Amino acid sequence: MAYKLLDGRDLARRMKEAMKLEIRDMAGKGIVPGLAVVIVGNDPASRIYVNNKKKDCEEIGIRSFEYALPEDASEDQLLGLIDALNEDPAVDGILVQLPIPRHLDEAKVIRRISHDKDVDGFHPYNTGELMIGRPVFAPCTPAGIMELLKDAGIDAAGKNCVVVGRSNIVGKPMAMMMLHANATVTICHSRTANLKDVCSRADILIVAIGRSEFITADYVKEGAVVIDVGMNRRDDGKLTGDVDFEGVSAKASAITPVPGGVGPMTRTMLLKNTIKASKMHKRDMLS
Ligand code: GUN
Repeated sequence: MAYKLLDGRDLARRMKEAMKLEIRDMAGKGIVPGLAVVIVGNDPASRIYVNNKKKDCEEIGIRSFEYALPEDASEDQLLGLIDALNEDPAVDGILVQLPIPRHLDEAKVIRRISHDKDVDGFHPYNTGELMIGRPVFAPCTPAGIMELLKDAGIDAAGKNCVVVGRSNIVGKPMAMMMLHANATVTICHSRTANLKDVCSRADILIVAIGRSEFITADYVKEGAVVIDVGMNRRDDGKLTGDVDFEGVSAKASAITPVPGGVGPMTRTMLLKNTIKASKMHKRDMLS
C-alpha cells in the first residue's frame, strides 16, 4: 500500500512564509515580536535546540534574546531572571529550555513564567485552559502534529487514537487535543498491558517514548496514520524515531519521517505562539 509522507519540513516552510508576511505587517505598526530563550548548563542537545530556535526567529523577523546560565546557577538566579523577563516589554515569549539541572525545581520555574508569555504552553494556567478546550498557548509538539494532520486532510473525528507516552510536554496534551478533535483516545505508557494489541487497534498512532525504532510493523494496523515524535541517536550515529519507518511505512496510510516530520513543526509552533503573544500584548497598537 502506498503511504503518504507527512512532510513537516514542507509544511513548516509554508507556515513560516505566511508568518514572515504577518510579521512584516506588524512591523509596519511598530511591533516586533520578541522571544527570550533561557538555557541553563551545557547539555549539547539543548544547545542545538536553542540555536535552532534562535535561527528560526531570525529567519522570519522575530527578535530573540538568549540568556545562558551556568550549570551551577542558583534557583534564585534563574527565578530572578524570569521575573525580569516577565517585566520586559520587548519580550513577548519566555522559554526555559528543558531539562534544567536537577538541583533546580522545574515545576517551580515553569510556574514563575508569566502565563501570558508562556509560549511553550507548560504553565499550569495554560495546561488548564487546554484541558477545558480554550487553549491560549498550546504545547508546540502536539500543536504541530494537529497542524500536520489538518494539512494532510486527516480528520480525527470518530477515529481510535492511541498515544504512546504520557509526558506533560507531549503525551498528555496530545491526548487532550485529539479528544477535542473528537477522536476516541487511549493513552499508553511503560506499564500498559498488551501494548501491541492496543496499538494495533489504532487508526491514528502517535508515539513519543524515546526508544529507538520500538514500534515495529506488528504494532500497526493496515492503513493506520502513524506519527513519530521520537528523536534518538543510535550507537552507529544514525538519527532514528521511535518507529521502525522501513517496516511500518509498508502498512501505514500516512507516516511522519524522522528527521523532517514532527521536529520542524514543533519549531514552527513556537514561532506561531510567539506571534500570538506579541499580538496579545500589543493589541492596542493593532487596532
Ligand atoms: N525540551 C524538549 N522539548 C522542549 C520544548 O518543547 N520546550 C522546552 N522549553 N524544552 C524542551
